[in-house]
Amino acid sequence: MSKLLKIAKKTLLKNRRSNYTLPTNNKLYPAQWNWDSAFIALGYSHFNINFALDEINTLLKGQWKDGMIPHILFHNKSTKYFPNHTVWNCGNKIASSGITQPPIIVSILKQILDNNQISISQEKKIRTIVKKLKKYLKWFIKFRDPKKKGLVSILHPWESGYDNSSIWDKPMGKVKIEKNLKYKRGDIKVVNPEQRPLDKDYDRYVTIKNHLKANKYNPIKLYKISKFNVIDVGFNAIFLRALKDLLILLKKYNINPSDLMKYVKKSEIQITKLYDNKKNIFYSYDVKNKIKITVPSITNFFILYADINNRLLNKKIINSLKNYNKGKKFIFSSIKEDHKSFEEKRYWRGPIWINCNWIVYQGLKNKDKLFSNYIKNKTIDLLNKKGFHEYYSCKNGKAMGANNFSWSAALYIDLVLNKN
Ligand code: GLC
Repeated sequence: MSKLLKIAKKTLLKNRRSNYTLPTNNKLYPAQWNWDSAFIALGYSHFNINFALDEINTLLKGQWKDGMIPHILFHNKSTKYFPNHTVWNCGNKIASSGITQPPIIVSILKQILDNNQISISQEKKIRTIVKKLKKYLKWFIKFRDPKKKGLVSILHPWESGYDNSSIWDKPMGKVKIEKNLKYKRGDIKVVNPEQRPLDKDYDRYVTIKNHLKANKYNPIKLYKISKFNVIDVGFNAIFLRALKDLLILLKKYNINPSDLMKYVKKSEIQITKLYDNKKNIFYSYDVKNKIKITVPSITNFFILYADINNRLLNKKIINSLKNYNKGKKFIFSSIKEDHKSFEEKRYWRGPIWINCNWIVYQGLKNKDKLFSNYIKNKTIDLLNKKGFHEYYSCKNGKAMGANNFSWSAALYIDLVLNKN
């Protein structure tokens, strides 16, 4: 095993608590995060399948009665974090946040099962996991697409996982900041503030969050009245892929899929309507303000991960992707470098994120082997040089944000060891 693979493994194990893993071992994120856990589980699956299943099981323990899986689970209540469990004030058995994150856990579970020998006792556990994941995806359809149109909304930028991306600038600009807001950010004490979201963004995150809480996280009501309601391409691509992978898992575990099949077909058609013919890119849509969001973000290329059955469209998107960071030493910038909102250091407004590269790579590998290998090798090179950080400058590869970052380590393990 190479030296860096050993370090990657150690990074995960050091961040591991009782049956779940922190995103990093510093003070920035002292809890379990939804999509982090999915990537982390994939990393574990290459050397300890039990740890992988434990990670997923622990996340599912936090599932709400209605089916939602929160974006944060606060297993340890004594840590300092804003917004902590008292601020959210919700959760069923486990204190949690009141919003979710991209449901990539479904496709990652399928990937883990495709690549590993599973024992009979584990199969039993997995059947239960699959049932819970079905409930999770049905929650999205029921509450985030109440008219069953085929695309789901997010009600807070944090639900996307790319918190302060400039995709949200327009919808966030319409959110009036609550008067007399009182809160204290913890993040800028741990990480250089120039690499974190601005206060004016935080004020709006907190305003939206307070509004969700004031409405008791009622999903029916909030779809209509939330201060933020966006159909995001990246999120919907992950969701559609999750639905498709879930259908395969349901078949395998003999669970009735009929209530989902029609929706998947609809979703496949509807998502292509987010395609902009002139710009050759998929764009998100602000449902609340009825405006198209024309920000060139790498997350728009997650559409490849949805595996839509349209060769011509996929080809066009791949060509666009080839121009996105053409000739650059380090890829992919989270926001296209020539866009006015691009910022080299500020979190999701420019830096390279390993999970984005990984998702794009996964979406591309069955469509353009050469290009997908190029992405994979560039990503591995960056990690070889800089180690496992939260994000990296696309100009010079400089490591930023948290160090010992779990998903960078986990996805390195997968990129290096996965032979499929
Ligand atoms: C930040 C990221 C989010 C991630 C979390 C924990 O909030 O924006 O995507 O899940 O940190 O790593």
